[in-house]
Amino acid sequence: MERISRRSALKTMGFLGCATGCLAGGLMAGAAPFSGPETAMAVTAGRFAQKDAPFSWKPHVLDAKVSAPVAYDGYWHQGYGCGYGVFYAIVGVMGEQHGAPYNQFPFTMLEVGKSGISDWGTICGALLGAASAFALFWGRKDRDPMVTELFRWYEQTPFPVYDPGTDARGVPGALPTSVSNSPLCHVSVGRWCQASGFAEKSKERGERCARITADVAVKAIAIMNAKQAGTFAVAHGDPASVTYCGKCHGPGKESPLLKGKMDCTPCHSGSPHTADKFKNHP
Ligand code: HEC
Ligand code: HEC
Repeated sequence: MERISRRSALKTMGFLGCATGCLAGGLMAGAAPFSGPETAMAVTAGRFAQKDAPFSWKPHVLDAKVSAPVAYDGYWHQGYGCGYGVFYAIVGVMGEQHGAPYNQFPFTMLEVGKSGISDWGTICGALLGAASAFALFWGRKDRDPMVTELFRWYEQTPFPVYDPGTDARGVPGALPTSVSNSPLCHVSVGRWCQASGFAEKSKERGERCARITADVAVKAIAIMNAKQAGTFAVAHGDPASVTYCGKCHGPGKESPLLKGKMDCTPCHSGSPHTADKFKNHP
């Protein structure tokens, strides 16, 4: 079987689970990748020990009603887009209310998230902005469930929800909604354009993404506020595909090739072991 022999070939070459990690390790001049005493020391001394490295900024509770219109306006401001809008609505508003260090952040850095990172349509930039804000305050163990709740909610929610009312900068009035089943800009935008009939470069699509920027800021702030109150819990469960397909696909399973947690259905059909695995493409 061709598939099995391809897997054996990868194993023999020592690539499995190493494709990115080992390359990055190899690029760190003079450092033994992932082993030796430098790894433990690096956290407290020398390289990687710069100010504020270990997620040490202190979060503050925010009012989502204040931040939602800021996120919406931030999307349109200089055309900086969704990643900037969400991040500014969180960290920028903290800066407006509490000063340093929040107001010292170079917020335009998050402009890179626009259109799924520099027009690539990968991760929705609004999600990048929110996850990046979480990462200023919480390390992986606390943050990962927060990101999971945000991304699952995004996969499952009919967007857009936010209504800027008379302040609409794009198109006033209600817009059609769609569920993306995906955290990816490409899928989220593509499905909305298909459902609404509007082109990707239309004013309506821009307005839709501006409203989603507010939606993601509101949800991210709810998560952050709950986390600070000690009441945060993951409320949006895994979709059926992740539970079902995950029985066999995943680390330690019979098919240990799977990376990630995304809903499988936008890209693989319900019967992936047949020829129609990319059912959405004719
Ligand atoms: C009962 C176990 C099982 C379940 C459930 C299962 N798979 Fe698989 N799948 C396998 C095995 C075994 C292979 C072949 C080995 C491999 O490629 O790792 C495979 C192969 C695949 C492949 C590669 C197929 C090809 O043509 O190369 C894809 C894609 C895939 N599965 C996706 C899915 C998705 C999506 C789901 C859920 C809808 C799913 N699988 C559910 C066991 C399962
Ligand atoms: C954004 C699209 C996307 C999503 C979401 C996605 N996949 Fe995939 N997956 C792909 C693509 C593209 C490949 C590479 C397929 C290829 O080259 O044959 C792949 C490869 C795989 C493979 C290895 C196939 C092989 O050739 O052996 C498995 C197994 C798999 N996916 C299962 C899953 C499961 C299970 C989920 C959900 C938990 C999932 N995928 C989610 C697009 C996706």
